[in-house]
Amino acid sequence: MSAPVVLQVAGSPVSPALVLRPWRMEDVAALVEVSRDPALRRWASPVVDNDADGARWVQAQQRGWAAGDRFGFAVLETQSGSVREQLAGNVVLKEVTSGKPVAEVGYWTAAHARGRGVASRALEALTSWAFETFEADGLERLELRHQVDNLASCRVAQKSHYDFDTILPAAPPAFPRDGHLHIRRTSA
Ligand SMILES: CC(C)(COP(=O)(O)OP(=O)(O)OC[C@H]1O[C@@H](n2cnc3c(N)ncnc32)[C@H](O)[C@@H]1OP(=O)(O)O)[C@@H](O)C(=O)NCCC(=O)NCCS
Repeated sequence: MSAPVVLQVAGSPVSPALVLRPWRMEDVAALVEVSRDPALRRWASPVVDNDADGARWVQAQQRGWAAGDRFGFAVLETQSGSVREQLAGNVVLKEVTSGKPVAEVGYWTAAHARGRGVASRALEALTSWAFETFEADGLERLELRHQVDNLASCRVAQKSHYDFDTILPAAPPAFPRDGHLHIRRTSA
């Protein structure tokens, strides 16, 4: 993949347009800022505490793009009447292997941007891109995992047509409670 992938999501009367593009080092300060949020620290990993952590995290995303097995997108909200874009979240396609029928998605939304469809709209754009890009290489389904008590994440999965599939047993310490596996297939 030579040119950086940029995905556009149209806005609505209540929500600004979104731009999804690979993470850049210039995102580190905003990443550190949004990572102070307790919900993000609880549900998303890894924890980013400072600029050095943030730089390592962005570099890991960049290595994923270079290796072709993990595709992390910064989700930016455009500000109406301005060219400025503000970091609103993250969506990621991971565990991608040529010829393998399944890969996984993940996401988080910055606290200031929650509740206006950022995660679900960005996930829809990621899903379409993933199937368009990797279906010819054997990709048939995408998996989404969340802990049972993460109700907002379960709602994002439902809204994005990732159907509930099965209960995943707890796996402490990383996953102290049971989880849900949701699946979306190419035909959905
Ligand atoms: C889960 C998360 C990504 C949702 O982001 P978002 O941009 O607010 O998502 P959306 O606006 O697209 O949708 C959120 C939905 O969850 C619902 N919701 C929010 N909090 C909820 C709660 N406590 N219980 C039930 N539903 C809830 C909202 O009402 C909305 O549904 P609706 O559109 O039907 O009203 C965000 O809360 C987050 O980043 N959490 C911390 C990190 C995380 O959990 N990542 C996922 C790990 S699996």
